Amino acid sequence: MEPGPLNGLDQVQEAELEQARQMRPAPERDVAPGPAPDAPGAEAPRRDAGARAAMSRQDVYAQPMRDGKPVPTGALTRFSTWLKYTLASELQRREWGLDEQLAHAPAMSRPNTVAVISPKGGVGKTTISFVLGNLLAEQLRLRVIALDANPDFGTLASLARDDHRSSRSLADLLADSSQIDSPAELHPYVARLPTGLHLLSAPAHAEVMAQMTPGLYGRLLDFLERFYEVVILDLGTGITDPLAQFAVDRADQTVVITTPEWVTAAGVLGALRYLQLERGTLVLNQAPTGRHAGNRDVIEANFRRHAVETSATIPYDDRLRVMLDTGTYALSALKLRTRVPVKELGATIAYNFV
Ligand SMILES: Nc1ncnc2c1ncn2[C@@H]1O[C@H](COP(=O)(O)OP(=O)(O)OP(=O)(O)O)[C@@H](O)[C@H]1O
Ligand SMILES: [Mg+2]
Repeated sequence: MEPGPLNGLDQVQEAELEQARQMRPAPERDVAPGPAPDAPGAEAPRRDAGARAAMSRQDVYAQPMRDGKPVPTGALTRFSTWLKYTLASELQRREWGLDEQLAHAPAMSRPNTVAVISPKGGVGKTTISFVLGNLLAEQLRLRVIALDANPDFGTLASLARDDHRSSRSLADLLADSSQIDSPAELHPYVARLPTGLHLLSAPAHAEVMAQMTPGLYGRLLDFLERFYEVVILDLGTGITDPLAQFAVDRADQTVVITTPEWVTAAGVLGALRYLQLERGTLVLNQAPTGRHAGNRDVIEANFRRHAVETSATIPYDDRLRVMLDTGTYALSALKLRTRVPVKELGATIAYNFV
């Protein structure tokens, strides 16, 4: 049998295709192997697109397929799809729209770094780094690592299940980096989550952490970008620290976290003047759902004046808190009202990748 795209077809299909091939112009050499153009009897290569696409999958499978079966297109199917959509809640439709958006996120041209910052403690920097990393790894199938760049005993790696955690830290990885050439050699240093997200912990000892200068972080990021498409930096509260300044300068995108209370949001807003943010993404996290929640539009408008656009308002969700604390986080198990803003954030970040 002739080598090329016909392998795997049955004899009837092959015979039909052979007939069709004889009626078509010869394909270009980079499409399928054939006689040299200057060989006796060889046809001159054509440059039109039709000649290139010798046989598309759609030629063979005229109907759209799903799960190995033709996608049903009958009137009954169309009606039940319409009914499902019409009866669905606004939030559910929003989620379907986001899934679609995420499925068509543009390809990135190089590894991207995302810094997650806030001058306030406990607002959710680690939580957002974690849920964002999981989403990008799971739904966009990107190679993502989130690293704990909190100089004060960060908690990021503790969010992994106990049996997934690594006892090694980013300082160990940096020290051994010259001996690591393949992704598999990274495994002992990172927690590998079922979503595909990897977590890299901060050193357990304060004196080791204190030695991590921005220059060393720069070397670590250069190294990680050889293996990952997205690096997420979960920072501490020190926004004027050289490390935070370095992270924001180095990052392609910065996510600013606040809660929607005036006390916290005003403090975060005030701290932004110490950062040279060209553009940032705001997350209002742990948003209460009560009646006296304050006017979030005013908060959002004030951040917008500092080039920080609101991407998502994530509610206070006790199930999320418990999932994180027990190492059992799963996006699909979150309530819709939390899942949707998490996807909104993911879509914003994905569409801003360079
Ligand atoms: N949307 C939310 N709903 C419920 N609990 C949340 C939510 N976001 C964060 N939390 C909880 O709030 C606590 C603090 O969150 P997290 O550790 O992410 O904050 P942080 O900003 O990283 O804190 P630190 O400044 O100490 O690094 C955690 O217990 C976390 O589970
Ligand atoms: Mg944290």
